[in-house]
Amino acid sequence: MVAILSVSKVKLKHPPLTIHRMGDKVLRQPAKRVSQVNDEIRQLARDMLQTMYSYDGIGLAAPQVGIHKRIIVVDPHPDKADVPPLVLINPEIREYVGETVAGQEGCLSIPGVFCEVMRPEGIVVSFKDETGRPRTIQADDLLARVIQHEIDHLNGVLFVDHVENELVLDQELRKHGFQMQDVQRRAKVGLR
Ligand code: NI
Repeated sequence: MVAILSVSKVKLKHPPLTIHRMGDKVLRQPAKRVSQVNDEIRQLARDMLQTMYSYDGIGLAAPQVGIHKRIIVVDPHPDKADVPPLVLINPEIREYVGETVAGQEGCLSIPGVFCEVMRPEGIVVSFKDETGRPRTIQADDLLARVIQHEIDHLNGVLFVDHVENELVLDQELRKHGFQMQDVQRRAKVGLR
């Protein structure tokens, strides 16, 4: 149970999981709630963390590795060995806090593409941690942004769906081998 926190923040030559890319339908399917936090879930979280660190990510959601369970891992400090990552199982945003602010986002499923996205700067989020303990935290700034981005993945939503500047988005996508037709336009974040 404690072992999950012992995942070292290193890049593996052969990460345990394969990340699906935009255009793959698997990313558009909503994930199911996790009924029990057991060793299988902990192993998945560990594999997700190892894969995330291997690709220089700061967040990863299970649907990105083709698993339709509501589990995300986040770590805004991959360079700090002593700061533990967060594992959020069945995360639910309870409240939005503060202003809606612009921030640059990228995604391991859309490598190379970075665009500005408007999101609330803070959230209150409830979830179960890797021990199965229910927790509620307030997250701000980068952590809040990463958690919102990853929870979107659980609902089949990608950050490019929120990008308001379509011209810039189209350019960015083409440059990195992705297509505008795989973007699903959304209403503003926080109003769904
Ligand atoms: Ni992503």
